[in-house]
Amino acid sequence: MNKMLRQAVVAGNWKMNKNREEAKVLITEIVPLVKDAGCEVVLCVPYTSLETALETTRNTNLHVGAQNCHWAASGAFTGEISASMLAELGVEYVVLGHSERRQYFGESDFTVAQRLRAALDSGLRVILCVGELLEQREAGITQEIVGMQTKIALGGVSAKELDRVIIAYEPVWAIGTGKTATAQQAGEVCSFIRQVVAGLYDQQAANALTIQYGGSMNATNAQELTDQPDVDGGLIGGASLKAADFAAIIKAASR
Ligand code: PGA
Repeated sequence: MNKMLRQAVVAGNWKMNKNREEAKVLITEIVPLVKDAGCEVVLCVPYTSLETALETTRNTNLHVGAQNCHWAASGAFTGEISASMLAELGVEYVVLGHSERRQYFGESDFTVAQRLRAALDSGLRVILCVGELLEQREAGITQEIVGMQTKIALGGVSAKELDRVIIAYEPVWAIGTGKTATAQQAGEVCSFIRQVVAGLYDQQAANALTIQYGGSMNATNAQELTDQPDVDGGLIGGASLKAADFAAIIKAASR
């Protein structure tokens, strides 16, 4: 299918950066630079900056996301935030299964699936992160790992709900390391993920799915990566904290 028929999405994952004041400054810089973007632009900011981000992006083409949510609607989960709490604020997107959550906070494929279920039930759009560790790539099991992560996460997701899911392929060895996957490596795994989704649903659903690449994407390498037939934008960490770099990536990914 012609990738022009699929929406490209570029999302900034700010991680634990930018307080409210700083968020306002950065968003105010980004807004004029991306007003003609030919792709969806999302800013995934820390919980404490969500309201500021929502206010600062009002009447712009920018969308706001959080970086995680819990699977329960409420309850004794000290320190957690539920999907419905995000939805109540007016947040549209949530990143789930980021490798930093899996690595530092013990999230598993199964809890990611539960969080995804809760996010969809609250009406959110999800950016689901999958990706292999360096040892797994070297052992030749990238497809097994990424296939398993994708299948478990999408286990309870209906074909109709899939239009609120984006998959971000983020090889763990490329995140924050400056080591980008080659365009070919990124393209191959994104194509593989599309095949997995075709097997779970059908080819039409797979063709409509937005699949991002993430991991040291920057203003210089974004064009080559997003030119890959199955790469529909990116999930951007470090480079999303600089307005000009983020805008350059958005331009590269625009259709
Ligand atoms: P990076 O992060 O662009 O800084 O490598 C990407 C991510 O973690 O989503």
